[in-house]
Amino acid sequence: MKTVVSGIRSTGHLHLGNYFGALRNFVKIQEQFNCFYFIADLHSLTTHPHPDDFHASVRTILAEYLAAGLDPEKCTLFVQSDVPEVSELYVLLNMLAYKGELERTTSFKDKVRLAKAQARGVAVSDVAENDQNDEGVNINAGLLTYPVLMASDILIHRANYVPVGKDQMQHLEFARTLARRFNNMYGEEVFPEPEAFNFGQAPIKVPGLDGSGKMGKSEGNGIYLYDDEKTITKKVMRALTDSGPKEPNSPMPDYIQNLFTLMALVSEPVVIDQFKAAYADCSIRYGDLKKQLAADICKFTLPIRERIDDIYNNDEFLRKVTRQGAEKARESAAATLALARKAVGFKTF
Ligand code: TRP
Repeated sequence: MKTVVSGIRSTGHLHLGNYFGALRNFVKIQEQFNCFYFIADLHSLTTHPHPDDFHASVRTILAEYLAAGLDPEKCTLFVQSDVPEVSELYVLLNMLAYKGELERTTSFKDKVRLAKAQARGVAVSDVAENDQNDEGVNINAGLLTYPVLMASDILIHRANYVPVGKDQMQHLEFARTLARRFNNMYGEEVFPEPEAFNFGQAPIKVPGLDGSGKMGKSEGNGIYLYDDEKTITKKVMRALTDSGPKEPNSPMPDYIQNLFTLMALVSEPVVIDQFKAAYADCSIRYGDLKKQLAADICKFTLPIRERIDDIYNNDEFLRKVTRQGAEKARESAAATLALARKAVGFKTF
């Protein structure tokens, strides 16, 4: 049976981007594959969460994972830091990762640009892409080596597949590179090269509501599984629109296309077709479109939201899930680490 690995950082709540980009697929494939799903609490340390909040964030994501349909009897569900073998592999792989390639990683460049913008009190777009001025910004090495830790997460279970969204493709490619590099250097087939898992469809990018691109935790443009109806409606109604197309069959601006992209995830095809036709003949009313979208999102998330609190407050259940998950994950991780250590040349006296 093929092995699947995927994780999510423990910051904030899960949003629709997480759900449609990843979680929905996690749930589907837990039946057919040997799946390892985890909460990436070590990754979340790059932004130095306050110790008082750190654990609650892990609990939140865990509860939301479970509420959305991950079944600990069907998959191995665990907390990253409960598996110290990951951190040891991270040390080994760091020796094979080049500073230059890490610096060229898109997510890293974006983080640096954001940090500079914040330090200077300007918009991200005001920081030139090739800006060299590091004054007043501290970029920690954990941020730079984020892809190495992610590669460790994947390779420690000798994963064949990783269901990831578009934004993580480059990281996955890097995990493949490290797997190859390790195997070449140590002359052994320790790590299979993990592939993206996408059900034969292109990975989807769920847009945010601000017309600025993808829905993201750090972008502050998300709709969360945990949001109540009022909040969802408010967020959707505030989405950027304009006064509507003036000519029949006008091209759609991105921020309108985004609303249709969201609709495609939660609304009935006939409803979508109606709004598309209305757009084409210029009779569309964006207020109606947004009301429909908000209602359909609420309908979709309601059953998930109802389960979240119960699970979050169930200490005994969460303890059982994480213990069992850690045990299974460590067994798999220890076996891989033993292979890697042997390949590198570690021996006991
Ligand atoms: N980097 C991923 C994200 O931001 C989270 C992640 C960490 C991950 N380790 C992973 C995803 C391993 C897949 C496999 O969403």
